[in-house]
Amino acid sequence: MWDERYAAKEFVYGKEPNTFLTQHVALLPKGKVLSLAEGEGRNAVFLASLGYEVTAVDSSLVGLDKGRLLAKERAVSVEWIHADLSDFSLGENQWDGIVSIFCPLPSLLRQKIHHALPHALKTGGIYLLEAYTPAQIGRGTGGGNSADVMQTALSVRAELPDMTFVHLQESEREVQEGIYHTGKGCVVQAIAHKL
Ligand SMILES: C[S@@+](CC[C@H](N)C(=O)[O-])C[C@H]1O[C@@H](n2cnc3c(N)ncnc32)[C@H](O)[C@@H]1O
Repeated sequence: MWDERYAAKEFVYGKEPNTFLTQHVALLPKGKVLSLAEGEGRNAVFLASLGYEVTAVDSSLVGLDKGRLLAKERAVSVEWIHADLSDFSLGENQWDGIVSIFCPLPSLLRQKIHHALPHALKTGGIYLLEAYTPAQIGRGTGGGNSADVMQTALSVRAELPDMTFVHLQESEREVQEGIYHTGKGCVVQAIAHKL
């Protein structure tokens, strides 16, 4: 499905970074950042342009190829990894930041990733996430219609019990991020530290 979606010439989530990421990027310690389900590269390229050493993972080769193009266009360097997150190891004490923007994983896989995530962060590392909540279902402004791949403030906190949250909020916000994320959306946003 994602390869088909990304086969469009245009960047279907846009070339500009996610709004929540741009608002809070200053909280990410400078260093190594892992972006989960990076898609066409907009967030990875943005982070690289700020001097972060970015690794971007996604299961869509077509998406990653567009990411490579965008990186070239913006003259930045990103490590692109083609992998399904079900087969990808986040590693241990590796990342100053991990970013998950609209990463629609089945809940069991997401829980596995969230279990591994605090171990993968360095002490002082930050996890930054934005996801649609199930309240989004039926709106037609993005995120599809599967509650299983959506998240809530409760689920995020429950899946990351050892992280310290500085921001954890559900809200309705205007999302204008490409042709598939267009309009008022119900989202959860989180920023958590590994202390
Ligand atoms: C809604 S798009 C968001 C892309 C990007 N994060 C953004 O905000 O522009 C969801 C992305 O999740 C990726 N994805 C879905 N399931 C995945 C999995 N199991 N492993 C890796 N990537 C996955 C898709 O390929 C797609 O690029």
